Amino acid sequence: MDKFKIAGGGELNGEISISGAKNAALPILAATLLTDQTMTISNVPHLHDITTTMELLGRMGSDLMLDEKLNIEVTNNNITEFFAPYEMVKTMRASILVLGPLLARYGEADVSLPGGCAIGSRPVNIHLAGLAAMGADINVDKGYIKARAKRLKGTHLTLEMVTVTGTENLMMAAVLAEGKTILENAAREPEVIDLAECLIAMGANIEGAGTDTIIIEGVDSLHGAHHTILPDRIETGTFLVAATMAGGKIKLKNTRPELLDAVLAKLRSAGAEIVVDDTNITLTMKSGRPAAVDIHTSPFPGFPTDMQAQFTALNCIAEGNGTITENVFENRFMHVQELQRMGANIKLEGNTAICNGVKQLVGAPVMATDLRASACLVLAALVAEGETIVDRIYHIDRGYETIEEKFSQLGAEIIRIPG
Ligand code: EPU
Repeated sequence: MDKFKIAGGGELNGEISISGAKNAALPILAATLLTDQTMTISNVPHLHDITTTMELLGRMGSDLMLDEKLNIEVTNNNITEFFAPYEMVKTMRASILVLGPLLARYGEADVSLPGGCAIGSRPVNIHLAGLAAMGADINVDKGYIKARAKRLKGTHLTLEMVTVTGTENLMMAAVLAEGKTILENAAREPEVIDLAECLIAMGANIEGAGTDTIIIEGVDSLHGAHHTILPDRIETGTFLVAATMAGGKIKLKNTRPELLDAVLAKLRSAGAEIVVDDTNITLTMKSGRPAAVDIHTSPFPGFPTDMQAQFTALNCIAEGNGTITENVFENRFMHVQELQRMGANIKLEGNTAICNGVKQLVGAPVMATDLRASACLVLAALVAEGETIVDRIYHIDRGYETIEEKFSQLGAEIIRIPG
């Protein structure tokens, strides 16, 4: 297993370009199953989760190609298997996103039920209840969701909780259903809007994406289209926290500052100076430690759970006491014990991490447990005294494109040790 060796202590300075958003690319690749015509997708990040999704589509019969501009072209006119096996779903829960499209277009889907994961139990009951309300016959048998339907029927759904992939799965199912579907209490995340924009380009009739009520009028078929994936707001936020911790001046290009309001507000309270224009963010952190911040995670437009671990790392070296309350997932604090091993003064009370910032963390061997927890350990290592080895970085390769190259470009001392 690959590891990162990181020598902490230096400032971050320079410019990097932000990649396409993983959590938009995954549902959009699944959405290609909704048409037999060719889809062209640009700005797809090079990530392990994308490779897994392409493998999953490939084994179903998708024809996948990279064109000369590195766009992914997907043609689904010969799907022969409507099946997502346990071996793939267990490595990537987002495989559940093929359920809605397969059922809507082919009337049949056998998808392994995802198990629990490092950040919480993460059930998919809301996805299944929604599809059942649209007329699907759903059984769970030997660990597999077996869903069948002649043609799904539009209906009025009020989702029990705000769920991002649940909203996406139901929206993809509804675009080919008969009649109108109303999704209330829908997720408002920018990635849901990006998926809706792609579906609209394919001929779907969707209104209200980005609000908590999405209205979809089903159509008989969809056609091919070209879509460019929106920039990754979590990758953007991760680099911004890094520079706020390490000091220096960084410019992040090809991003969307308006998607990061809650994150930028917290970075400003921590002491960062931030200037934005349409597609760039410049952050300057003058010498000195950041100020501790208090955070409560919640669905968009609230503070994203996917930025919680990185801000926990910031509070570890901040001046003052900060509390971080995780409201979306029940067990997303696996990084806390690793931060303690680097000298952090942090304790957990229920779903809140209370941190009394220390002047200096100390490098240590640490272990990544999930994607964002791994990012948090890299940030801590960048400001720690001495050397840190971060083990199991396959987690980070799932969601950050060439993170070590981007940090090196900003002057950090980070190398990959192949394992
Ligand atoms: N939930 C249910 N039942 C359901 C669905 C969700 O109880 O049927 C609960 C979950 O257990 C959780 C809450 O609802 O407590 C919200 O979960 P959600 O369904 O929104 O999460 P998700 O769709 O599985 C996506 C992202 C996650 C991100 C969350 C929250 C993708 C592929 N994944 O997951 O991204 O943390 O939304 O914003 O879009 C990451 O990138 O590191 C990551 C984990």
